[in-house]
Amino acid sequence: MRVISIISGKGGVGKTTAVANLGIILASKFKKKVILVDCNITTPHLGLYMGIHHHPVTLNNLIKDGADVSDAFYIHPSGAKVIPSSLSLTDLDGLDMLDLKKTVDRIKKEYSDTDYILLDCAPGFGREAIAGMRSSDEALYITTPYFSVIVDIVKCVRVAEDLDVASLGLIVNMKKNTKHELTQQEIENITELPVISSISFTHDACKSIHVRRPISVVKPYSKVSKQFEMLASMIVGEEAPKSKYVDRVFGKFDRY
Ligand SMILES: Nc1ncnc2c1ncn2[C@@H]1O[C@H](COP(=O)(O)OP(=O)(O)O)[C@@H](O)[C@H]1O
Ligand SMILES: [Mg+2]
Repeated sequence: MRVISIISGKGGVGKTTAVANLGIILASKFKKKVILVDCNITTPHLGLYMGIHHHPVTLNNLIKDGADVSDAFYIHPSGAKVIPSSLSLTDLDGLDMLDLKKTVDRIKKEYSDTDYILLDCAPGFGREAIAGMRSSDEALYITTPYFSVIVDIVKCVRVAEDLDVASLGLIVNMKKNTKHELTQQEIENITELPVISSISFTHDACKSIHVRRPISVVKPYSKVSKQFEMLASMIVGEEAPKSKYVDRVFGKFDRY
């Protein structure tokens, strides 16, 4: 079992998008047992991005009330299990995010046959973000190709290193290949991290949020879905199984 936190210095760079798409691809294409946890409890989006409309039991209940893990699972049609956080402000009362690690340990113990637990973390390195980092064994960093965002991630890397979280590498998201972007070499020099994935900017991202289905569901054969698939393949260390001809032909229609 691998517990991977998805980390960024700045918000809005694509953490939740990456968690949702990687989770769906790992579960549906690679047939892995996957649990996705929304650890961004103050501004939770994972449930919304994945079309989970009704979630009476959330991560908040697991941390605060010791609720049953199985009650907080929402099974996405891809097979990925999702643990959303509560959208209600009052559910933050009395919640200490540093108790997250105990909850993640409980999930690991009770669902020990899980292959991947992905933690969608809060940005930066405040209490909420640190809670996610210290609950994981490996960190997947994500940034956009702009200087200020990359400067922010350097600090996160130092914090994660201090917490003994191993680095999986860096995703550069929303690449437009304009001259204002830093090059991969420049990004690697500044962060001292290998860039393991470049994800293109796509207008499908807005559509996907609007219809509450991640890009790999609404556009499974698009460039960005393929880029997420390559990233999943790199994480798993296996080649992505080839899609059947009939799936490719009908894949232009929504799958779930
Ligand atoms: N590759 C991309 N191309 C275009 N827009 C993207 C891409 N990835 C994410 N976005 C958009 O950027 C916004 C922030 O993404 P999100 O995943 O919520 O970031 P975070 O979780 O880091 O705050 C969302 O509106 C999302 O649709
Ligand atoms: Mg997010």
